[in-house]
Amino acid sequence: MLTAVQNETVTKTGPGTPMGDVLRRYWQPVALSEEITPGSKPVQVRVMSEDLVLFRDDAGRPGLLGLHCSHRLASLAYGRVEDGGIRCSFHGWLYDVDGRCLQQPAEPERSTFKDKVRHQAYPCRDLGGLVFAYMGPPEREPPLPPFEGLVRGDGSRKADYHPINSNYLQNLEGALDPIHSTYLHMDGWSQMKERVLAQPQVEVSLEETSWGLWRRSSRDAAAARPGSPRAASEPGSNGGNGFSYGHFFMPDGFMGIRQTVSRDNPGQVTTQKTQSWYVPIDDEHCRRYLVAFTPHALTEGAPLDYGIARAAYIAPGPENDYGRDYEGVDTISGIPLRSSTEKGSLKGLLFQDTMVNETQGPIADRSREHLGVGDRLLIMVRRQLQQAVDDVRNGLDPKFSHPEPDDEGLVRVSGNDEMEST
Ligand code: FES
Ligand SMILES: [Fe+2]
Repeated sequence: MLTAVQNETVTKTGPGTPMGDVLRRYWQPVALSEEITPGSKPVQVRVMSEDLVLFRDDAGRPGLLGLHCSHRLASLAYGRVEDGGIRCSFHGWLYDVDGRCLQQPAEPERSTFKDKVRHQAYPCRDLGGLVFAYMGPPEREPPLPPFEGLVRGDGSRKADYHPINSNYLQNLEGALDPIHSTYLHMDGWSQMKERVLAQPQVEVSLEETSWGLWRRSSRDAAAARPGSPRAASEPGSNGGNGFSYGHFFMPDGFMGIRQTVSRDNPGQVTTQKTQSWYVPIDDEHCRRYLVAFTPHALTEGAPLDYGIARAAYIAPGPENDYGRDYEGVDTISGIPLRSSTEKGSLKGLLFQDTMVNETQGPIADRSREHLGVGDRLLIMVRRQLQQAVDDVRNGLDPKFSHPEPDDEGLVRVSGNDEMEST
């Protein structure tokens, strides 16, 4: 558990908050690159309680500016992207991606007033299908890390995001939690529970690393279910090594590594690395950005169908009871693991995960928790966040804000196991 004050420290992320200052020392995703094309309609975004407008100028550069025009505060989201910047629709002031005011058409011809105006602007760049922004102090801006899954050219990649109606940290913690799969995500609970309750321990290995934490969990009981697609990843079978990996990277990231065994061809195993960021929209909402990467070597060159199309996304929430069917579905919650309307299991997992993360409240009150031995990962994550808060307060760069690329020029947030290093 945390004290109420500690909890507030790690969950509040608006400008000037301790954790907000930490998160702003890292590049954070703020949109998909495909959402803005040169000259297309600007997009209003909210990031860490700041209202901003995102656009791509006619030279293709992404720009992230304060939403409200410096003149008389009209929303630039209703402006027009043209002439090397974005033009406010009220009186035509024109700003470039750096926040310089290029034109004030109604001012006298020789006026230098426009040179005195500097509009709020954050640097942003495209990488791996996402637009990343740096919202911290300019003199501390680090290089954008060349994350492996975002820059490697030898695989297929899918970038996406979805919105979540609760604080970023409880959703990140839910993704990292190594225990819950056996319960929350267990299908056929009534048949499986004797076995699960008799052997509840999932063995978890944890190591603190340069990026945050490395985590390996032994095969959980779900994988042992006869007929489960995950059964083929049992030790001794011809697919997988019986472990699941899910690492934390500073300050709001999760790297999930998953092996999938083809139903039709059990000899075909693919390893997918999904790197996610839980970026606060404000203190009670966040967006999970993700980039899934699968090396071609493992798919024989075929692009992978990731089945996570945002267009098909239906937000799980209390308004649809998180898809629950208490009488008809044999999971503890009654929320199905798979949806019959969509391929794959992600949708059901997402509904289940969102239910447990959201029902903790808009900001989980960690002073009321009772953490057990199985929760030591969360304790280690929170310690690292608190350390980062102290470091920034003391004028230091927080952990992993300036990661060193390896010999191949990549920044990796996974380990050296055979499966992970593919
Ligand atoms: S309010 Fe934007 S130009 Fe006047
Ligand atoms: Fe989950």
